[in-house]
Amino acid sequence: MSEHQGAFEEGLYSMGEALKRAPQIRGIPTGVEGLDELFFKTEFVEGKPRKVPLGGIPSYAVINLTGVSDTGKSLMVEQFAVKRASEGEGVLFVTVESPATFVSVSLKERAKAMGIEPSKVEERVFLVDVASYNKLRENLPDLLNTLAYAIKKFKVRYTLIDSITGLYEAKEMMARTVVRQLFNFMKKWYQTAIFVSQKRSGHEDLSAEAAGGYAISHIVDCTIVLAKELILSRSLANLYKVEVGDVVRLFRIDGCRLCGHDTRTHLMFITETGLVKVGPPLGKR
Ligand SMILES: Nc1ncnc2c1ncn2[C@@H]1O[C@H](COP(=O)(O)OP(=O)(O)OP(=O)(O)O)[C@@H](O)[C@H]1O
Ligand SMILES: [Mg+2]
Repeated sequence: MSEHQGAFEEGLYSMGEALKRAPQIRGIPTGVEGLDELFFKTEFVEGKPRKVPLGGIPSYAVINLTGVSDTGKSLMVEQFAVKRASEGEGVLFVTVESPATFVSVSLKERAKAMGIEPSKVEERVFLVDVASYNKLRENLPDLLNTLAYAIKKFKVRYTLIDSITGLYEAKEMMARTVVRQLFNFMKKWYQTAIFVSQKRSGHEDLSAEAAGGYAISHIVDCTIVLAKELILSRSLANLYKVEVGDVVRLFRIDGCRLCGHDTRTHLMFITETGLVKVGPPLGKR
């Protein structure tokens, strides 16, 4: 009997073998003004490091987009879905909070605001309606089978989940297990994915703390935090150059393990037509 009986050789490879199978990271334009310039990679020219903008979020990343209610998370993923579909790519939109019919209207609004003819994208965005079908919410294997079926059938490269929090709301101690399985699934199917997660409290507004439950940011590749602040003091109003009583929206990339990224806190805006835009960093206005 071999001394190494039971060793799982398939799970063991050299760095060189792993590199051969590694996907090339490139930037995926998001349709969110001001966001695509915030990710970069480092290239070496004559031995010297040089920052090269990616021009979008890193491909194959699983991104946790988090923030308290009404911070612009859904608008942002809708813009991303419309943008990718408008460039001829398949997008899977897993809607957990709002039924698919409502999301479709919202996507149509977003397309119009972005100057994209809705008919150009409506056959490329596919909705998985977890909000209406409890079976999909309660049973993760069923949900994963449905996603795998849709990814194969519609040649999907982008999967958006709004929100993952809704997949474990009655069993928060399962959060990490659910997110881990979804993360592994996205990796297996080479998806670039955005998981929206609901941040429970406004405490530590711009950190990933309390984002989507327990320590989810340790699992995903990248975390983006959205926040809003009601300005109630004259000193804050002066700092942000707004009036007392205004709401200031903020954006921050909390971390990304796939590439370099901007680390500053940026102003964020939601236009009258409902489009999210990332503005200048706070120190630079
Ligand atoms: N069509 C629109 N026109 C103008 N402003 C809009 C429009 N749609 C949404 N907004 C503004 O954007 C805000 C953020 O909306 P969004 O639905 O993206 O929030 P969210 O972060 O997904 O919140 P939740 O966690 O509750 O789902 C809304 O509260 C509203 O102020
Ligand atoms: Mg939302």
